[in-house]
Amino acid sequence: MLLIVVCSCKSKNALKESKLVKVELIEKIENQLKSSPVLQDDFDFSKRSVFPRTLDESGDVGLVSKRDWTSGFYPGVLWYSYLLSEKPYWKEKATAFTELLESEQLNASNHDIGFKMMSSYGLAYKDTKNEDYKQVLIQSAKTLITRFDENIGCIRSWDHHKDKWEFPVIIDNLMNLELLYWAWKETGDAVYLNIANTHAKTTLKNHFRSDYSTYHVVNYDTITGVAKDKVTHQGYADNSCWARGEAWALYGYTMAYRETQDSEFLKQAEYVANYILNVAKLPNDFVPTWDFSLKDVAEEPKDASAAAVMASAFYELSTLTTNSENKKEYVSVADKMIASLSTDNYFNVPGTGHGFLLKHSTGAKPGGGEIDVPLVYADYYYLEALYRKKGILTTN
Ligand code: GLY
Repeated sequence: MLLIVVCSCKSKNALKESKLVKVELIEKIENQLKSSPVLQDDFDFSKRSVFPRTLDESGDVGLVSKRDWTSGFYPGVLWYSYLLSEKPYWKEKATAFTELLESEQLNASNHDIGFKMMSSYGLAYKDTKNEDYKQVLIQSAKTLITRFDENIGCIRSWDHHKDKWEFPVIIDNLMNLELLYWAWKETGDAVYLNIANTHAKTTLKNHFRSDYSTYHVVNYDTITGVAKDKVTHQGYADNSCWARGEAWALYGYTMAYRETQDSEFLKQAEYVANYILNVAKLPNDFVPTWDFSLKDVAEEPKDASAAAVMASAFYELSTLTTNSENKKEYVSVADKMIASLSTDNYFNVPGTGHGFLLKHSTGAKPGGGEIDVPLVYADYYYLEALYRKKGILTTN
């Protein structure tokens, strides 16, 4: 008993002493979020587009509808604000934005249902255990598996670009598997586990180069199941390594190992970590340029969202790896990323940013869209990383 008391005091002290998860930072986050137009009393919720995604060209908040792939992240930002601050205000707002997404449980038009529903309903269910939320998530998993092709062993990512690709699978798709692992554990139905594992293993075989950098898009032949093209859509070149794609791979295999304890997934996550840390190498401020393969980076935009996704994944991987040197290195690099993102270089100063936390993210440079702007998923993974860091400090 005494030991437990001593340990819990030690954890509280560790949290208090942490330079990263300071009360002042949580307050700064709350104040910044409160300046969003969608949290003002006069905001018109009858409009189709109510979810903040970015800032548009005129500097106003770019709002998207529930069908957009990013729509779940804003409710997720509000859930993490609640989890970090423990203030009921954020839970009330998070609940309201989450429930706006209910009909998305039936949207089978692409793979993004996992991103959307786990960052909103997934967090909502974890907190409330509300049975209605559980049913929405189970239906969402059923919807996602309609896109699985047994012959190929993957969930189809996109239906557009039919002229270019027969069956495109993007590295990002790994992130949607979290919904399937969740459904397997909640329902006991192994169909979700088998599809998630098959997708993860097919991706492991076809999406990586020998140095564990990633191809963004793999296009499969639907008759033979063969991976016939390995190309890019959001990266610099077909043979380059798009930074956020590599971040999705790090996060995806870390999550797959957490859910399954399959050592192949842990090995893959550590190989990807090694690529990021020792092959690609991060810049001095620990926030990557939008593609790791660019030679002359001085004029190229950063991608703070890639750093936020990586930081969150590195914290989690540090709790799973069995190598004590790696554990230290993963925490250390995640700390440096979060510290860098929390400075004025990346965090919007009060009165700017219309409620977004971070600046300097890049969505899709080759398409000319969302270059050097705030992106809601950068904020989401930044907050998740802080929450994970808080968890590490309180359990150690
Ligand atoms: N999943 C889309 C992106 O990362 O831009």
